[in-house]
Parts: sequence; C-alpha cells; structure tokens
Amino acid sequence: MAFETKREVLEWYEKQPRTLTKEFIDNINWKDIKNYPLDEKFVPVLLYMRDVEALTDMYYEELRRTPTGKDPIISKFMERWSNEEQTHGEILNRFLNEAGIETEEKWQHQVRKAVSTYYTINNYLITSLTNLVGRRFTATHMTFGAIHEMSTTQGYRRLKELADHPILTQILDGIIREESAHTNFYRSVARIELGNSETTRKLARFIVKNFWTPVGSGAKTKKESDYTIATLFQGSEGLESLDRNVSQRIQTLPGFDGITKVSDKIGLIVSQHTLTV
Ligand SMILES: [Fe+2]
Ligand SMILES: [Fe+2]
Repeated sequence: MAFETKREVLEWYEKQPRTLTKEFIDNINWKDIKNYPLDEKFVPVLLYMRDVEALTDMYYEELRRTPTGKDPIISKFMERWSNEEQTHGEILNRFLNEAGIETEEKWQHQVRKAVSTYYTINNYLITSLTNLVGRRFTATHMTFGAIHEMSTTQGYRRLKELADHPILTQILDGIIREESAHTNFYRSVARIELGNSETTRKLARFIVKNFWTPVGSGAKTKKESDYTIATLFQGSEGLESLDRNVSQRIQTLPGFDGITKVSDKIGLIVSQHTLTV
C-alpha cells in the first residue's frame, strides 16, 4: 500500500476497526486459562511485555514535547495508538492473573516508578536534542517507531509459537493485529518523511545504526530485557524469522539498504545469554 501523504496514512489508520474491543475481551474464555499448562519460563517474558506496553504512555508524554509529537497528524495517531498499547498491557496482566500469577493491583504505577533515573535523564537529553534538530528528526522518530512495532510483533509471534497456549494464542492474535496496523502507520510515515531529503535519510540511518536498542531496554533492566530476547529468539528459527520479518523490511526504507542493526544486536544478546546460562 503506497501512500503519498501523511494524511492518507492517518485516514487509512482511522478506518481500521479496533480488534481488542470490549466484545473481543468479554468473549475470551478467561476461566479456562488455568486449564492449560503455561511454562513458567514465559512468565518473566509476559511481565516484560506487559510493562513495555504500559510504558508507552511515558514515551508518548515525552514525544508530545517534541516537534514530532506536535505534528497534528502524528499526534492524532498517537492518541489512539497509546490507548491501544495500554489495552495490550492490561490484557496481558489479566492473562497472568487468570493463569494464577498474582500481580500488584497498581502495577502500572510500580512499573513507572521502577524506571531508572538514567533512563529519565537520558530521555530528557534526547527530547532536548530533538527539539534542537527540529522537524528533521520526525523521520528518525517514525523509523524508530516502525522498528519497535515490527520487533514487538515478531516477539509476540514467537511467544505464541513457543508457549503454545490456546487462549494466549487468541489474545496474542488480537494484539498482533493491532501491532501490524501500528507498524503500517509508522512505516508509511517514515517512508514519506525519509523521502524528503538526503540529510534526513543520513541522520535517520546514523541514529538507528548507532543508537537503536531493543524495546524496553533502558526503562527495564538489562537482565530483564536480555532474558526476554534470549527466550524468544534463541535458535536459528528465532533469528531467521527476525531477519525476514524485521531486518529485511527495514532495509526497504529509503536510505536503509544493507542495515542489519536489529538482527546484529538481537543475535549478539542471544549468543551472550546462551553462553552465560
Ligand atoms: Fe502493543
Ligand atoms: Fe504497537
């Protein structure tokens, strides 16, 4: 699907019905969850994903202070997008509870509180820096967004396959549908913005190549982040599917040919983690 303007991308997004409606959620057989086994190694993974979804709110607040977040089209998208991510976090938390894993009542609050000072300072610096570079940075933000959405989606696909729990599968299929719409928005806007100038493309490529880190790292601990990545992407099938569904798709963005950053970084984490287990 090729869009020529950001408005067209927004119009497309707004036409997409929500998957995780109240009806969808009410139709999940929550009481049946505990009747299927859930390997406990996936519990920290589910908690990590839940927390990262909830932290979207924080990222959204930061982005609203930058020229990207002030763009009327992007901010319109982000209002719905951040709501959808909150639902993902809540639904994963409920799944864990129904599976017999207790969580704090105010877990969202705990997650935000636990974000390290380093992350807060670092993000403040990034926001200030972004304001200096101005609108030219929008393409980078959108590219980052696209990479985050694609890698998250791939993480959910892997979790679905590996955990093989029928009700988790139903939930993740719903989440994946919404993540795919997010990917399409970010990727389409990134494509348009990157098409604007050579400087924009060079800046975006430079930042991704040097500063991209997996979703949640910095906000969650390195240990938590590495565990999730290693659990989901261990083995050749994990890395091959990441390369196919994420890296090769990033390479189709203007100025991103030959970029293997995501596969390299995830591959390194997986190999290091395997060695230290
Ligand atoms: Fe999400
Ligand atoms: Fe998403």
